[in-house]
Parts: sequence; C-alpha cells; structure tokens
Amino acid sequence: MSLTRAEALPTDPATHYRIRPPFYHSRWYYLNQLRQLVEWARDNYVLPLAKHQRIKLTDYGCGTKPYISIFKHENIEYLGIDLAWNPHADIIIGSDSRIQTSDNLIDVVLSTQVLEHVEDPEGYLAEAYRILKPGGLLLLTTHGYWMYHPDPTDYWRWTSAGLQKIVVRAGFEVVAFRGIIGRMGMGLQLFQDGLLYKLPPFLRPVAAVPLQFLIMIFDKLTTTKARDMDACTYLVVAQKALK
Ligand SMILES: C[S@@+](CC[C@H](N)C(=O)[O-])C[C@H]1O[C@@H](n2cnc3c(N)ncnc32)[C@H](O)[C@@H]1O
Repeated sequence: MSLTRAEALPTDPATHYRIRPPFYHSRWYYLNQLRQLVEWARDNYVLPLAKHQRIKLTDYGCGTKPYISIFKHENIEYLGIDLAWNPHADIIIGSDSRIQTSDNLIDVVLSTQVLEHVEDPEGYLAEAYRILKPGGLLLLTTHGYWMYHPDPTDYWRWTSAGLQKIVVRAGFEVVAFRGIIGRMGMGLQLFQDGLLYKLPPFLRPVAAVPLQFLIMIFDKLTTTKARDMDACTYLVVAQKALK
C-alpha cells in the first residue's frame, strides 16, 4: 500500500530521531553534532536572508525532511526535492535527472547526506547551481569517514579538499567549510559499528551508550582546525556567482 504525502510525513517533525536521537542510539553523538552543524548554517546564513524577505529553501534529496522543524520560520518556504518515488517530495526530479523547476528561482538549496548516494555528483551540483538565484546559497553536508550505507546506493566519500574542489568546479564560491567528529572519535565510531553488528540486537544499545560517551570525550580532545580538515562529515556553504 502506498502512502499519501500527508500520511508519510512524521506526525511531529521536531521529534524525528535525526533531531532528537535517544541516548542509547548508535549514532547519538553524530546525529546531535550534525543537527548542531545544520543549526549553525541556519543561524549564520539562512536567517539573515529571511530577516526582511520571504525566501524559498529547497531540501534537495529530502528523504523524510528530517530538518524541516529547524527551518520553521514565517519567511521561509520549505520545499522538498526528490526522486518521483518519494511521497515527501514537493518537486520531482525527472527521468532526465533534471529538477522539474525553472532556473534562478531558489534562494537556498539545503542538501543533507545526499551527495555520497548520487550516481553523478557533478550533475547533482550542476542542478543545484541552475535552480539557485544569482547569489543564492548551497548548504551541503556529506561524509568524510563513514561505513558503507546503501540508500539504495552508496558511492562516494570526500576529503575536505576534494569536496571543496568539486563544489568550486560546479561554479560556486566556498564561503564556509566545517567538519564534525575528527579522527579519534571517528576511529571509535567505526570500531563501534564493526562491533555492534556482531552483537545480538538487544545488546547493541547497551554497548552503544558507553562507546558514544567515549566518542564524545575523544572528539572534545580534537581541535577545531584538525576537525575541519579530517572529519566524519563536512558542511560546505557555497554561493552562486552574482553575475
Ligand atoms: C540518505 S537519503 C538523505 C535524505 C535526507 N536529506 C536526510 O538527510 O535524511 C538520500 C536521498 O537522496 C535522494 N536521491 C538519490 N539520488 C538523488 C539524485 N540524483 N538527486 C536528488 N536526490 C537523490 C534519495 O531519494 C534519498 O531521499
């Protein structure tokens, strides 16, 4: 049975596990860090834009729109873009890989944890560039170190330099770049993920709690500079040329 869009939406987006992961979740530390990173981008780049005008923000590869509650604002129109199968999508990507909307229309493109899953990352970024207004912003997060996680595919990992390179090649100017969870924390996260899959499901939360705590401690020992260079996940904030 297929769901209508309204049925498929979480009843309360503010309680989506990506926003409020339970303390026994095997990604507790990571998901909290990622939410804080998205909030940082919102506070520094989106809210100043929305202060005096109505803006269009598209969540490109929206999945279940896990961050929609973070962008709830009277001046923000929040639209999901995804492949035709996704009932959460407000704008569909055609079979020709083109987003079914016109050029130079959108103020902000938000892309969370999509780039590593797309077959053609250059084509994906070119479409983000096309739909943005001149001066419009791309806020994109994707993985540095992470386990293989097909959804339904998983193709790419990025270094901090490689991610900036591909974004610049698409025509953007990078205006901010940040990483979350550095080498020590991520080494432990990958160890945890290897271990958990060897345990029976009822023991996984029991093992995850102390390991998540240790990941947090080790990550606090990592400098911001090191994390921005070598991390689990990066945020790139990039601007389309004003022309
Ligand atoms: C791992 S999910 C991420 C969903 C959401 N952004 C999040 O943070 O949870 C990847 C999403 O990218 C979408 N996707 C896959 N290929 C895509 C493409 N070429 N263009 C846009 N979205 C795509 C999938 O349909 C899926 O919803």
